[in-house]
Amino acid sequence: MEILVADGALVERRLPEFGRLLSEQTVVPPWNLKWAPGSIDDPESATGFLHMLHQNGGRFVVALDDDIIAGVGVTICLSCDQLLDDLHVRELGANVGDEYLAAVVVDPEQRKHGVFTRLAELRVQIARERAAASRNGHKPTAWVRTHPDVDPVIRVYTRMGFELCGEYAPPLGGVCAPRVVMKMMLDAVPTDVVY
Ligand SMILES: CC(C)(COP(=O)(O)OP(=O)(O)OC[C@H]1O[C@@H](n2cnc3c(N)ncnc32)[C@H](O)[C@@H]1OP(=O)(O)O)[C@@H](O)C(=O)NCCC(=O)NCCS
Repeated sequence: MEILVADGALVERRLPEFGRLLSEQTVVPPWNLKWAPGSIDDPESATGFLHMLHQNGGRFVVALDDDIIAGVGVTICLSCDQLLDDLHVRELGANVGDEYLAAVVVDPEQRKHGVFTRLAELRVQIARERAAASRNGHKPTAWVRTHPDVDPVIRVYTRMGFELCGEYAPPLGGVCAPRVVMKMMLDAVPTDVVY
């Protein structure tokens, strides 16, 4: 299994596959989103959502198994007010300059082998590097949100140093469903993750 940060060409070439995986695994419980795979031209679709993240500088991390996509995740710097609104993260307390760890999904056939954990660690590493390179004095916070029933995700993020900080129900993927919110200061030292 290869875990890598995708360059722009790889993202553009495989965006429809990422969108398909994201759609397939989030239209089912507990997510129950109304998210068709769609296309880059449809902002209401999974592919359109990922395209928007890509257009706004989102970094894609990808797990490849013999060139087959086993998992994908994104981390994006919240570089402007518009992004805070489009991603519905202003409500959870995020500020311009913070980092948002967006959509992550693992192919069902590849689960329980640590793929999500490795994608999560790589996204935090990218976020930390970006935070360290920031010269404007802002100490960024990394934010994630997930469904309250997805215990494995909450457990992994907690181990990485994130803390639970609230719940809300943003209008995402065509539904208003509950989300738990977690955050971590990016200058905080994680307890047991070595980069
Ligand atoms: C949630 C999801 C990302 C986990 O991916 P994964 O690659 O199987 O996760 P990992 O192998 O890294 O496992 C992470 C932890 O969860 C546990 N775990 C994974 N799947 C589990 C399951 N179905 N039931 C119970 N525990 C599970 C693992 O044992 C591990 O725990 P540990 O580190 O304490 O031993 C994957 O199931 C998925 O894509 N679900 C649909 C989309 C989704 O919910 N995405 C999260 C959005 S925030």
